[in-house]
Amino acid sequence: MTNEPRAAYRIRRFEPHDMAALYEICLLTADSGVDASALYSDRRLPGYIWAAPYGALEPDFAFLLADGDRVLGYVVAAPDTVAFEARLERDWWPKVRAEVAGMTPQKPLDEGVLRRIATPERHETALQDYPAHLHINLLPEAQSGGWGRRMIETELDALRRAGVSGVQLGVSPDNERAKGFYSHVGFTDISGPGHVTYAMTLR
Ligand SMILES: CC(C)(COP(=O)(O)OP(=O)(O)OC[C@H]1O[C@@H](n2cnc3c(N)ncnc32)[C@H](O)[C@@H]1OP(=O)(O)O)[C@@H](O)C(=O)NCCC(=O)NCCS
Repeated sequence: MTNEPRAAYRIRRFEPHDMAALYEICLLTADSGVDASALYSDRRLPGYIWAAPYGALEPDFAFLLADGDRVLGYVVAAPDTVAFEARLERDWWPKVRAEVAGMTPQKPLDEGVLRRIATPERHETALQDYPAHLHINLLPEAQSGGWGRRMIETELDALRRAGVSGVQLGVSPDNERAKGFYSHVGFTDISGPGHVTYAMTLR
């Protein structure tokens, strides 16, 4: 089904008061693109990894889709993944670990996220061709109206202006819709064994 483009929507920069929206939209799209509320026992769990730290640490690369006061989607990025991961270790994970201390896995996806918070993914060496990475998530009512393309273009422009040479992103293997979208808007599939990854050169 195609949603009608809504002229009232606008893309704007992330602001600190938008943090709750990042957590909520992340949760509502965290099950390979659809609502994961039933799969986590705390609504903030997926956002600790895939949304909130970008608003906190990389606000210049965090953009929201808004309908008046409501936030309907976000695109976030880190221009230098290796440097971002080092900053997470220093400025983000200690606070998150304190917040989840004592939480025991109860719902299906709790354990994986708690494990990643305890032992985050680290890329020790520079990702030469594609140093940046991004995440884009729109609520269902904002999907299929051309806003995903506009949001991605907003992010790619910001990364280009910052002199970033390339960007990559990971996709859940069963998120066929997102894979089709990334290919269609110009990303290349650089997947390998055990990971689905799309990438784009920016200059
Ligand atoms: C994936 C997502 C960002 C795409 O945004 P969207 O607003 O639905 O997509 P758009 O309407 O902007 O589509 C842009 C273009 O891609 C095309 N497209 C979209 N999905 C496609 C698909 N699965 N296969 C082929 N083309 C596709 C559209 O037809 C459109 O083409 P056009 O601009 O040439 O007319 C959005 O659906 C979403 O947030 N989904 C849920 C969360 C998610 O899965 N995020 C990705 C996690 S890796």
